[in-house]
Amino acid sequence: MFPETFKTASLTLRPIQLEDAGAIFDGYARDREVTRFLVWRPHRSRDDTLAYIKRCVSDHPLPSRTYVLLGNEDGAVRGAFDVRRPAPHYLDYGYVLAKAWWGRGLMTEALTEIARWALANEAIWRISGVCDAENRASARVMEKAGFAREGLLRRWSMHPNISDEPRDCLSYARVR
Ligand SMILES: CC(C)(COP(=O)(O)OP(=O)(O)OC[C@H]1O[C@@H](n2cnc3c(N)ncnc32)[C@H](O)[C@@H]1OP(=O)(O)O)[C@@H](O)C(=O)NCCC(=O)NCCS
Repeated sequence: MFPETFKTASLTLRPIQLEDAGAIFDGYARDREVTRFLVWRPHRSRDDTLAYIKRCVSDHPLPSRTYVLLGNEDGAVRGAFDVRRPAPHYLDYGYVLAKAWWGRGLMTEALTEIARWALANEAIWRISGVCDAENRASARVMEKAGFAREGLLRRWSMHPNISDEPRDCLSYARVR
């Protein structure tokens, strides 16, 4: 159901693999600033990253795929993008980018392409995502990719690097 690759002007997305562990750990998974608004704690070792990749590539109850973002210039890992299909008619997603690459429009590019692909699929009517209510950069990515803000989901998600209490999140979607 999910394609092998996505391609944009700056990026190629391909399925994550065990060999990516070093680049992911060094590039962003251990970075406290990158993981601040995420549902997982920073990795402490490459073994943490390897365990995460093993979970990504194992069977899941829902159809899903985790891609790494590779720069077209150098083929190096810049981040990751998770796409999930909780029900046949809609997708949701999550994304992360190494800090060195923030602010260049890369994630907007990736999300725009995935939304274009999703909404060109006859069976898919909705693609949506959430971010911590204070995660302005992620909210901007979704706005710039043409997603409409649907509302504030109160106490929606655990973001353990900020608080032990569930956090309010913004919900964004594109539909057809
Ligand atoms: C969120 C994230 C993926 C954005 O990726 P990116 O490629 O840097 O995003 P873009 O360059 O396409 O756009 C970022 C936008 O947010 C804005 N922005 C960045 N940091 C910001 C901040 N602290 N406050 C307000 N706006 C901010 C940028 O100015 C830009 O908007 P603009 O084009 O209107 O100026 C990246 O910051 C990241 O990986 N963050 C950590 C992980 C994360 O939060 N993932 C999302 C979980 S929901």
